[in-house]
Amino acid sequence: MPTPVDHDMYRQLLSCFATGVTIITTRDPDGCPVGMTASAVSAVSLDPPLILVCIDHGADFHSALSESAAFVVNILASDQGDLARRFATRETDKFSGVAYTTHPTGQPVLGGGVAYIVCERWDALEAGDHTVFLGRVAGGESSDRAPLLYFRGGYGSLDS
Ligand SMILES: Cc1cc2nc3c(=O)[nH]c(=O)nc-3n(C[C@H](O)[C@H](O)[C@H](O)COP(=O)(O)O)c2cc1C
Repeated sequence: MPTPVDHDMYRQLLSCFATGVTIITTRDPDGCPVGMTASAVSAVSLDPPLILVCIDHGADFHSALSESAAFVVNILASDQGDLARRFATRETDKFSGVAYTTHPTGQPVLGGGVAYIVCERWDALEAGDHTVFLGRVAGGESSDRAPLLYFRGGYGSLDS
């Protein structure tokens, strides 16, 4: 069995995979909107329509999502880098001053993104220090805005 790579090498290798940037949102048990920036998001299955998000056990958001039956994947637009930075901190009131609406399912949806995807929690699988949350896609909306990208530890857009 080969020896696994160290953390620096793992980060270096994975930073070469350019991704979009999302903010996953849900409500905590008190009904307050909560969210965190995430790029470990992927399509999984068409039938049923499943996607996945991988959340660090150490994130505050992990406990909120563990207790929630639904969540939203908000896909960020190229001018939403500040929002991505804000939701990647451990600040407690990340929603203060942030524009959002409430979807008929009760889930918070951020404004101004490329798209949002509303999911019902389908399953959760433990994978090392993360949990893979599988969501069954229940709806959403898309726009023609340009996406925010993340590559080698920095934000960019399709033009830069
Ligand atoms: C571009 C970017 C992508 C990220 N992707 C993920 C991810 O997919 N999963 C994860 O657990 N953390 C991810 N993070 C880190 C979390 O956003 C960060 O740990 C955040 O502070 C967690 O907030 P919380 O502890 O308040 O929930 C990412 C951060 C950045 C900047």
